[in-house]
Amino acid sequence: MTVVGTVLNGGATSVSPSVAAGAHDFTQFACAQCHGERGRGGVSADVPALNQLGKQLTVAQLKQIIDHGLGESANPKKPYMPVWGQVISAHQVADLVAYVRAGLPSVPGATPPPVITGQGAAVEGALLYQRYGCVNCHGPNGLGGVPNPQSPDKAIPALSGAAFFQQFNTDQKIIAMIRSGSVIGQAPIVSMPHWGGIIPDDQLRALVAYIKTLKTG
Ligand code: HEC
Ligand code: HEC
Repeated sequence: MTVVGTVLNGGATSVSPSVAAGAHDFTQFACAQCHGERGRGGVSADVPALNQLGKQLTVAQLKQIIDHGLGESANPKKPYMPVWGQVISAHQVADLVAYVRAGLPSVPGATPPPVITGQGAAVEGALLYQRYGCVNCHGPNGLGGVPNPQSPDKAIPALSGAAFFQQFNTDQKIIAMIRSGSVIGQAPIVSMPHWGGIIPDDQLRALVAYIKTLKTG
């Protein structure tokens, strides 16, 4: 039997290619996980909705916010707007800006991967690793190496290998790091986002279960 993948047609009422690409970037970089699907908010009182912004912010202001964040929150229990400039290309940022300024319309297929439960915590965690955009910064399979030139290590760390598992030798230590991230400096340094209040506890445990399946040596 031949299995043919689904091909989604963008549809006749479609938006511009830039707005469509921005919608997919909004999903890929997990903007939707903090700001809500299509920027509708409702995830955390600390994260604003984006769909009311309209054209309040100029293209230059939006680009500045995405590239440089809005300053790290000193309170580790609160999420802050991450610094994306080292991770998201100028082209992708322009598409994200077009999408926000277009009012975050519905775009077919621009939906985060589903969370599958009932197949074990590691399977769920692997999907969450995509859904929360960990992969964009920590690389496929937690291999790390994404450039972060202004940071002491010059790269975003791996979530695998002997050094990682030596430092993060308990589930609690890994969970604390995902919740509270770290504040290693100001833009243009990329810091670990604070996911406390965003990722529920059972999903944090699933992420840890997945990370513990990665290479230990
Ligand atoms: C870890 C959670 C998180 C993620 C992921 C995230 N943001 Fe934010 N964002 C925030 C928080 C918190 C604020 C408010 C910061 C402040 O006011 O200091 C914010 C603010 C903003 C603002 C300014 C809103 C306003 O009303 O002025 C924009 C625009 C924005 N984010 C866009 C994005 C885009 C685009 C992405 C994806 C590339 C993204 N955010 C990903 C947490 C997040
Ligand atoms: C915007 C990029 C970015 C995203 C997205 C991101 N991280 Fe991080 N993460 C970092 C950076 C940078 C560090 C290093 C922080 C430091 O050294 O203080 C880090 C550190 C970590 C560490 C500790 C590793 C070490 O050796 O210090 C863990 C564990 C971790 N992240 C897990 C995750 C998980 C799980 C997700 C998804 C829910 C995630 N990260 C999403 C940038 C990111």
